[in-house]
Amino acid sequence: MASASTGSRVSCGRDLNCVPEIADTLGAVAKLGFDFLCMPLFHSRFRREFELEPAKSRSGAQTRSDLLLCGRDWNTLIVGKLSPWIDADSEIETERRNSEAALAQELNFSAYLGLPVFMIPVKGPHNANLARMLLNHIQTGHHTSNFWIRVPLMASEDMREDLIENEPNTCIDDDAGVDEKTWSWWHSFRTLCDYNKRICLAIEIGADMPSDAVIDKWLGEPIKAAILPTSIFLTNKKGFPVLSKAHQRIIFSLFKLEAQFIFTGTSRHTEKDFRSYLQYLEYLNQNRPTPNAYELFAKGYEDYLQSPLQPLMDNLESQTYEVFEKDPIKYSQYQQAVYKCLLDRVPEEQKDTNVQVLMVLGAGRGPLVNASLRAARQADRKLRVYAVEKNPNAVITLENWRFEEWGDQVSVVSCDMREWAAPEKADIIVSELLGSFGDNELSPECLDGAQHFLKDDGVSIPMFLHILPRSPVLLQALQ
Ligand SMILES: C[S@@+](CC[C@H](N)C(=O)[O-])C[C@H]1O[C@@H](n2cnc3c(N)ncnc32)[C@H](O)[C@@H]1O
Repeated sequence: MASASTGSRVSCGRDLNCVPEIADTLGAVAKLGFDFLCMPLFHSRFRREFELEPAKSRSGAQTRSDLLLCGRDWNTLIVGKLSPWIDADSEIETERRNSEAALAQELNFSAYLGLPVFMIPVKGPHNANLARMLLNHIQTGHHTSNFWIRVPLMASEDMREDLIENEPNTCIDDDAGVDEKTWSWWHSFRTLCDYNKRICLAIEIGADMPSDAVIDKWLGEPIKAAILPTSIFLTNKKGFPVLSKAHQRIIFSLFKLEAQFIFTGTSRHTEKDFRSYLQYLEYLNQNRPTPNAYELFAKGYEDYLQSPLQPLMDNLESQTYEVFEKDPIKYSQYQQAVYKCLLDRVPEEQKDTNVQVLMVLGAGRGPLVNASLRAARQADRKLRVYAVEKNPNAVITLENWRFEEWGDQVSVVSCDMREWAAPEKADIIVSELLGSFGDNELSPECLDGAQHFLKDDGVSIPMFLHILPRSPVLLQALQ
């Protein structure tokens, strides 16, 4: 189970609070179609005392033997759950000490069994001791398990009332304040755990849902699993379990994150067995909304920090340009900006006589040249274009474009813009050198060297701070 759902099938687990016969239970849930089982490692009656009798000196095993399953099954099919009574941050010292001892024992036993995941609930805002012990466990052993922190998407009803009564200083009138409460529990917990990569999230979805903005915030987190209580399911006319539209929306988003799903609670649709819940989830999976252009473009790059490109120092590869060119928004926005700029600079009566000089600085394989030519056609204005590019490989593509499509309207200039002796001054310069992180492509350094061939009343697209905004229409286009 440890791997995220592969292919198009959703990976689902069954959550149980009591497992008398582990091998039989595992067999039974597998028969229903579940991929893994979530269960407590220790029986609740082994609530152990650290300082007090009788458990301290009780003889015999404190939980079942590891020999009941083979190593492979422990490693792949079981998610361990921390005993729910453990409260390592209790204000009562005895309780805290007992909890610390039991927490250490359960973490160590989980590691001994080689479980892929151990699930730990976070039930409130104060978890510093829990975080300290967990991080210490991760950093001191050679264990490989991951940890799923079980956090409810929304605090329970009573807790919300409690928040409103007891925290008058927080913005309780604003729903988002209450909505975000459990996110802040998680946020402070993982911060205390130093954003350790092995600490991920299992969000518990209740009947109530937070606002869309708060859901988006959650979706930016490392969610590995979603816990679905059977109580959130509605019943359709034929007696089958279904989810509300709001719940469906979050499930669709979780599919994109390749989260696994864990069903908890008893089957509430008694005539149907548990298979109907799994079938419904699989039905949703097969009927996901089709991704939009942006999602298709970003597919495979979600949540990855990319090392910034250095197009001045390096010559980019063809495939890198190909990725740029798939951007569904950028080029149409540039086209729009050039279009508005041309309308702004050339009055209707001059449209046949006034030829605007436009320079694409850092033309790559030519998409901004094409966008500018499209804009000129759209605006019915005349344009003379210079495509300046320092990458000699990309210049080959530009020359081919010129030969096959652009003709003499475009001059390809193979050189560094800082060293180019331009034959005339430009009305418009178009560049795309800002990079993903403000300025990793040395935009000011390059464009500064090219400033001298921009006319005094010329326009730079995009506009830079050192170039005074000249055109209200353009300003509007760029907003
Ligand atoms: C981010 S890419 C954009 C390419 C193209 N505009 C596009 O949208 O695909 C920046 C381009 O500017 C070129 N470049 C960077 N510094 C340059 C300079 N000083 N002179 C000329 N070209 C430069 C790079 O080789 C690269 O092709």
